[in-house]
Amino acid sequence: MKERLAALADRALAAIAGASDAEALDEVEKTVLGRKGELLSLMRGIGELPAAERSAAGQAVNAVRERLDAALAARRAAFQDRHLAAELADTRFDPGEPPPPRARGHLHPLTRVRREVEDIFLGLGFDVVDGPEVETEAFNFDRLNIPAHHPARDTQDTFWLENGQVLRTHTSPVQLRAMLRAGGQPPVRVIAPGRVFRNEQPDATHEHTFHQVEGLMVDEGISLADMKGVLALMLERLLGQSVEVRLRPHYFPFVEPGVELDLRPAGSDGRWLEMLGCGMVHPSVLREGGFDPGRVSGFAFGLGLDRVALARYGIDDLRWMMSGDPRFLQQF
Ligand code: FA5
Repeated sequence: MKERLAALADRALAAIAGASDAEALDEVEKTVLGRKGELLSLMRGIGELPAAERSAAGQAVNAVRERLDAALAARRAAFQDRHLAAELADTRFDPGEPPPPRARGHLHPLTRVRREVEDIFLGLGFDVVDGPEVETEAFNFDRLNIPAHHPARDTQDTFWLENGQVLRTHTSPVQLRAMLRAGGQPPVRVIAPGRVFRNEQPDATHEHTFHQVEGLMVDEGISLADMKGVLALMLERLLGQSVEVRLRPHYFPFVEPGVELDLRPAGSDGRWLEMLGCGMVHPSVLREGGFDPGRVSGFAFGLGLDRVALARYGIDDLRWMMSGDPRFLQQF
């Protein structure tokens, strides 16, 4: 038994030393130490030895197993080192080489145009205010002169929540909130940028989640001419001479009269892109906001911010905007 064990150990150690790669080591491990390996069959023979010799024989077998395990592990480590060294030599690793520059983040095109709009209006004495994205039906519709079953509700296909509230379909509810905060005291001059939601089939100019900037000015003697002047100044600053502008009468229940503004690249006969809705605040909405329409008047607008970014940067598809796709974002 002793001799067979010694011979097995010598043979296995020689095989381990002579193995040319990791697969060869696996093979040695299997034939010597595996479940059907030679060491195990030697161990089975221990039972046939005289009782006095069994314990010593068991210890001897275990000692050989440990030696072989250690030799296998050492050889495997050597193969790994060799592999690593080869890889390093291959890639010409140079620890002295400076690391590649870190990629830095930058502002999203929507954030840029939003900040520009904010700067323009802050310069005109407006405040920038915020409103909730989850709105009540009253603020999103009823109190803006859009009662239930009014056909105008169909133009803003709505995400309803189970509790009867809505994901706001436009930023116009913030008009009302701003008027109520003013407590009937003019002037009110605010803009309200924010995210809005409509259950729409997305295409190159429509998303289900997009961004608007609401504007509202209420004071004594405000007229359509004030609105035209403010909007012209805003578009001039945002888009310069690069676009042609067209105004069309349009019906919105919360203004009277109402107007839509379209634009297209200057000098082109391309398609008009609808950019904003606007008009003089409807008397009943002024009243809802706590103002006397006999004393004050106001104008309001709702600008599609994503579409400003389209026009500003010559982007061909609005769906890029919220895609998070780095191939798009890296261009700005
Ligand atoms: C409104 O949402 C009105 N609340 C605007 C308004 C405010 C009118 C104050 C009068 C006074 P409209 O549904 O047309 O209107 O949307 C306004 C702008 O949002 C559009 O001109 C367009 O630029 C943008 N817009 C509308 N739907 C989408 C959409 N699905 N994806 C991207 N932009 C959109």
